[in-house]
Amino acid sequence: MKRSFKLGLLISAPVSALVLAGLVLAADAPAPAPTDAPAPAMAPRTGEAPALPPSEIAAPAAETPAAVPSDMTPQTDEKVEKGKYLATAGNCISCHTRKGGEEFAGGLEFHLPMGSIFSTNITPDPETGLGKWTEEDFIKAMHDGVSPGGHYLWPAFPYTAFTRVTDDDVKAIYAYLKTLKPVKYTPPSNGILFTMRWPMMFWNALFHTSERYKTDTTQSAEWNRGAYLTEGLGHCSMCHSPRTITLAENKDLAYAGGEILDHVGAADAEPKVRKWSAVNLTQAKTGLGAWSADDIARYLNKGFTANHAGTWGPMTEVIVNSMRHLSVEDTKAMAVYIKSLAPKELPAGAPISEDQTKAGQAVYKDRCAKCHQDSGRGGMFTSPPLVGSAIVQHRDPSSLINIIIYGANAPKEISTGQWETMKPLGEVMTDAEIAAVANYVRSSWGNTGSAVQAADVAKQR
Ligand code: HEC
Ligand code: HEC
Ligand code: HEC
Repeated sequence: MKRSFKLGLLISAPVSALVLAGLVLAADAPAPAPTDAPAPAMAPRTGEAPALPPSEIAAPAAETPAAVPSDMTPQTDEKVEKGKYLATAGNCISCHTRKGGEEFAGGLEFHLPMGSIFSTNITPDPETGLGKWTEEDFIKAMHDGVSPGGHYLWPAFPYTAFTRVTDDDVKAIYAYLKTLKPVKYTPPSNGILFTMRWPMMFWNALFHTSERYKTDTTQSAEWNRGAYLTEGLGHCSMCHSPRTITLAENKDLAYAGGEILDHVGAADAEPKVRKWSAVNLTQAKTGLGAWSADDIARYLNKGFTANHAGTWGPMTEVIVNSMRHLSVEDTKAMAVYIKSLAPKELPAGAPISEDQTKAGQAVYKDRCAKCHQDSGRGGMFTSPPLVGSAIVQHRDPSSLINIIIYGANAPKEISTGQWETMKPLGEVMTDAEIAAVANYVRSSWGNTGSAVQAADVAKQR
C-alpha cells in the first residue's frame, strides 16, 4: 500500500521541509499474494489472490465470511485472540508486508519525492524485528511514535490515530505479535532524509497529542465503540481528512475528505501512482449524507452495498484486509459513529457552467447511461447510483477520473451481486470527453461539484 499526503506547495512553507517530507508518501504496490502465503495490502483490483489478514478473527456474527486461518498464527489464549482481532482492525498487515514477502516482516516501500521510507519488521525476530522490545517499548511506539532509543517514527505509521487505543488493547496486540513466526529480514534503509529522526521530535511537540480515547458519556455505548474504532485502530482520518500546511490533519475539517497517492490500473500493469481523493465521510450532501448507517456498515463489512457502492480503489485493502473481518457489531458501531459526523464541506471550487454540463450530456448517453441510467440512479442489476454519490461530487475529482480511466474491478473476495464490472474507458475516451462527462455527472440530478478541466484528466493518465 502506498500512502501519500501530497502537498507539494508546502515545501516552501516556513516549516522544515524535512518534516513535511515525512507525509508525502506513496508506497509500492504490495505483492500479489503468493497463493499459500497470504500477503496483504493488495493494490486495487489485483487479479491475484489477495491478502487475507491474520484470520479467524473473533467475528461473532453469522454474516462475517469465514477467514482462512494462517499457519503462522498459533492461537494460544484469549488475549492473543483479541490482539489478532485488534491488529486486523488496525490493518497492520497491509502496511507491514511487502510484495511477495512474509506477513508482518515489513519492507513495503513508501515513495516520496525526497526519497523512500520502508515499513519495519514487526515479527518477533530479536535482531531485525520486535523480539527485544518490551511491552512498554511497544506502547510508547503506538502512542507516541517513538521507538526504543528515542528513535522518532514518521507518521506514515498512523500513531497519531493509534494513540487513542487503550493500554490494554495495545498490550493485546503486543501479545499477538509475539506469537507470530519470527522472520529475519531487514527492510532496505530509508532514503537519506528519513534516516534523520529529529524533525519528528519537533513535529510531535507541535502537532501530536499522546491521548487515549475518552468516552463521551452523552452518547451510547455503541457510538463510543464506533468512535473508538474509527478514530483509533481504523485510522480512517489518515486518508479522509485534509491536512494543514504543516501536514497535520486539519481538525476543523476532520473527515471532510483528503488526498493520497496510490496505485491506479490493473495490479499486473506497470506500477503507476496517481492522486486519489478520499471522499467526505461526514453527513454533507457531497459526503455520506445519502448513506444510511446500515449502508455504511454493510459496505465496510461486506465490501458492497447495492444502494451506493462496491469496493474498488484504495479502499480495497482497507476492506479486504481489515474491515470485512470485523464483527457485524463493530462495523455497525463504526457506521453509527460516522453517521453522527456533522456535515462539513471543503472550500468550493470553480462552478460548472451550463455549457459545460451540456457538453457532457451526449458523452454520458453514449458511455455511461447503459449502466447508470439516464436518471443517474443505476440499478440493482446494473450499477450504483451516481445521484448523491460522494465520489462523483467530491471537491477533488481525482477518484472520479480514476474510475473512468482505469475502471473498477472489484476484488475477487467481494461479491458485488449482479453488477457488471465497470471497465476502463481511458483508452476509448479523450481527456476532454472525460472532463465533459465528469462535469455532467457533477452537475446533474441535484449533484453539486466544481468544474473539471481536461488538464485535470491528463494528470491522472
Ligand atoms: C499506513 C501504514 C501503516 C499501518 C496501517 C501500520 N503501520 Fe506500523 N509502520 C509503518 C511505517 C511506514 C513504519 C516505519 C516508520 C519509520 O520508520 O519512521 C512503521 C513502524 C512501526 C513500528 C516501529 C518499529 C520500529 O522498528 O521502530 C511499530 C512497532 C509498528 N509500526 C507497529 C504497527 C502495528 C502494531 C500496526 C497495526 C496496529 C501498524 N504498525 C500499522 C506503517 C504502518
Ligand atoms: C458496464 C456498465 C457500466 C458503465 C458503461 C459505466 N459504469 Fe460506472 N460503474 C459500474 C459498476 C458495476 C460500478 C460499481 C463497481 C464496483 O463497485 O466494483 C460503477 C461505479 C461507478 C462509480 C463509483 C460509484 C461509487 O460511489 O463507488 C462512478 C463514479 C461511475 N461508475 C461513473 C461512471 C461514468 C461517469 C461512466 C461513463 C463514463 C460509467 N460509470 C460507465 C458500471 C458501469
Ligand atoms: C489508505 C487510505 C484510506 C483509508 C485508511 C481509508 N480510506 Fe476510505 N477511501 C479512500 C479513498 C481513496 C476512497 C475513494 C476511492 C475508493 O473508494 O477506493 C475511499 C472511499 C471510501 C468510501 C466511499 C466509497 C464509495 O465508493 O462511494 C467510504 C464509505 C469510506 N472510504 C470509508 C472509510 C472508513 C470508514 C475508513 C476507516 C475504517 C476508511 N475509509 C479508511 C481511502 C482510504
